[in-house]
Amino acid sequence: MLHTDKNHSVQYAEALLKAHLNQPEEEKIKLEAAGSQMFEALFPGTHGGNFKYMYELMAMAVEGNVDFRNKYFPNDPDYVDKNIQESEAFKETMASMTLEYYLLIKQLKQSGTFFSMRTIGHMLWDTTLPGILGYFAALMYNQNNVAAEASPVTTLFEMHVGNELCKLLGYAVNPIGKKPGEFELATGQVTGWGHITCDGSVANLEGLWMARNLKFYATSVKQAILNEPLFQNAKNFQVTLLNGNKATLINLDSWTLLNIPIEEVLAIPNNLASPPYNLKPADISNAIAGYTVQNIGYHDILSKYLPDIKETPVSIASSTRHYSWPKGAAILGIGASNMWSVHVDLKARMDTTKLDNLLSYCVSQKIPVMNVVAVIGTTEESQVDPLKDILALRDKYRKQGLEFCIHADAAWGGYYKSMLNSANENNPATFHLVEDDVIVSLPMSSYVTEQYKVLQLADSITIDPHKSGYVPYPAGGLCYRNSAMRNLVSFTAPVVYHGGVDPTVGVYGVEGSKPGAAASAVYFSHKVIRPNINGYGKLSGECFFNAKRLYAALVCLNIQPGLNFFVVPLIPIPAIQQGLPPAQVQQQYEFIRDRIVNVSNQQLLNDPQAFALFKELGGDQTIITYMFNYFTSGTTPNSKMKKVNDLNNAIYTKFSFKPYEVGTENTPIVVTSSQFTRSNNGDLLLNSLRQRLGVATGDGINDPINFIISTIMNPWLSNTVKGSFIPTLMNIMVQNITQIVAEIKAQP
Ligand SMILES: Cc1ncc(COP(=O)(O)O)c(C=O)c1O
Repeated sequence: MLHTDKNHSVQYAEALLKAHLNQPEEEKIKLEAAGSQMFEALFPGTHGGNFKYMYELMAMAVEGNVDFRNKYFPNDPDYVDKNIQESEAFKETMASMTLEYYLLIKQLKQSGTFFSMRTIGHMLWDTTLPGILGYFAALMYNQNNVAAEASPVTTLFEMHVGNELCKLLGYAVNPIGKKPGEFELATGQVTGWGHITCDGSVANLEGLWMARNLKFYATSVKQAILNEPLFQNAKNFQVTLLNGNKATLINLDSWTLLNIPIEEVLAIPNNLASPPYNLKPADISNAIAGYTVQNIGYHDILSKYLPDIKETPVSIASSTRHYSWPKGAAILGIGASNMWSVHVDLKARMDTTKLDNLLSYCVSQKIPVMNVVAVIGTTEESQVDPLKDILALRDKYRKQGLEFCIHADAAWGGYYKSMLNSANENNPATFHLVEDDVIVSLPMSSYVTEQYKVLQLADSITIDPHKSGYVPYPAGGLCYRNSAMRNLVSFTAPVVYHGGVDPTVGVYGVEGSKPGAAASAVYFSHKVIRPNINGYGKLSGECFFNAKRLYAALVCLNIQPGLNFFVVPLIPIPAIQQGLPPAQVQQQYEFIRDRIVNVSNQQLLNDPQAFALFKELGGDQTIITYMFNYFTSGTTPNSKMKKVNDLNNAIYTKFSFKPYEVGTENTPIVVTSSQFTRSNNGDLLLNSLRQRLGVATGDGINDPINFIISTIMNPWLSNTVKGSFIPTLMNIMVQNITQIVAEIKAQP
């Protein structure tokens, strides 16, 4: 057991290692799998109870760093010694630093309380001990993952993490350090590649960057073949088109060039390097470079080489996409207004009929489509776009000559895929999906499961360890289905990678210098908490469970007698969704109250009828999006949109931190908020919400609708050492909202 002196921790770890190495193979596997047996050991504890173990492990890291320094030319001179450390100036400097540090720590105590049971707002909660410890250990080595020479160890960590993230999401990978022949992949199997970015916004930017460059690549190759001496014997170079026909690249018209199948575009450099052309990869890339959008810019590539394309290329996402998408479009010169929004359905998921119409319009008007983004866990609703249908639409439009990439923005929802990943990792290339009967034990709805099962068909995926991976910032992640995609954004000639250790990762992204410590944090987290059903899957499943638990408690406020307000969740209970008559709606509320809310977790799990309904309650993942309205008298709702918005604003203000003001400790609950707007989210959603809120037809018709967001990242919310915390949260809400309603009603 840890928790003695620091040297003892090292001895303890060494004894563990020795015992571990002497174990038979199957015992070793058991010990490794024990890593996430008890999540209570892997988080700090609400009151920091586990930090005593963290101190010791941090001491082990500090000792390791001292040892590391001392083993490197031990006789080199130093700038500190005992005399210096005992000098007055040294002591005064230390005293000053200590005082300033004390003051810094005091200031930090005004931070947001993102460790608390009361924090049910942002995509931000406590981080895991492995996340902190992995970061801390590497922090002292200050490695820069921009280049392997500046980070010999942490770049390797990043490569492992890249593979881990790919495997988690379902992409096949080349095992690191193994050469072809030493591992098995199906013939022709494309392998993915992933890396750590500073955040999800940059990962999305890189996904769009790749899609933009891919769209124009064949055009650049055509120009290079026409103009560059290197290609004098390659004028007959052919590509396979979407209709399966082969065609000579230089004869293709602009529209066809922009719609060559993704895999075919990616194969161009390899095909030019193969017989009969046998050109050198570096020469090919140098010769094409002068014609790429990367070099000549958006205006020139369109006006010089694609003059008959009259419409600006677009990227398409649902209206619930994160704002990093239009921002990325602005940065890349695509133009934020060319990032089209598809209105959403009543569940705030992309309406694929509308996407179908947009794609059809693009075909008829010859508008190039760079990518379609499916959000797998939206920022404000955690809704999952219908990826399966989006993939089917791509198949449909491929038959009409339209090609585009599909990016899954799973910045938030990526780790939830672990809920479907088997603990059997023997297959080196991919995880197995767990059979359905096992999945059922976790509350992921059948619709969401279906979307996750096709995630690996997306061309690129954002997945952020610093969100549902519980790793400290900064740790975003981007994965490509086909590792060749990374060459499209690199500013150096593509490295032909024949297995073994990939020489670098740093050249394939937006960032320059980046912390090796971030890769270390993710690497170590995954060592302890495996991204499968026993590790992150279980952790995620518990949060899904608690989100549905909180949702159930929240909606039952609507049948709590005597309240002066009611709640309208974005996703209504199933009886309302099905349009059942009021008596049946009431019956379902009562069923939820009696068989879901007012029972223990165990009772719920043992009640198949209640659990079946429970599984389908609320949003797709762990966010509850909801709004309140009040009764003017009896059961008559306030009908003014402005008053609804005032109420929800006031609730948000009560339940959030005031920037730069002291007093975070007085915030009784932490939620966050946002708005639905008619122009962005569409009439269908806005009209339905207004009707459910009881707002008069026509009143403030174009006003936005303010809503509250509760994100559940706390696996213990319904299961603390003192029982469920949900009733306490409900009481705090009821008390405060009752008072806020009274104040609003008193206003003129
Ligand atoms: C779906 C989605 N994509 C991208 C992002 C951007 O991530 P980051 O804040 O790490 O830049 C977020 C952040 O909330 C998100 O929810």
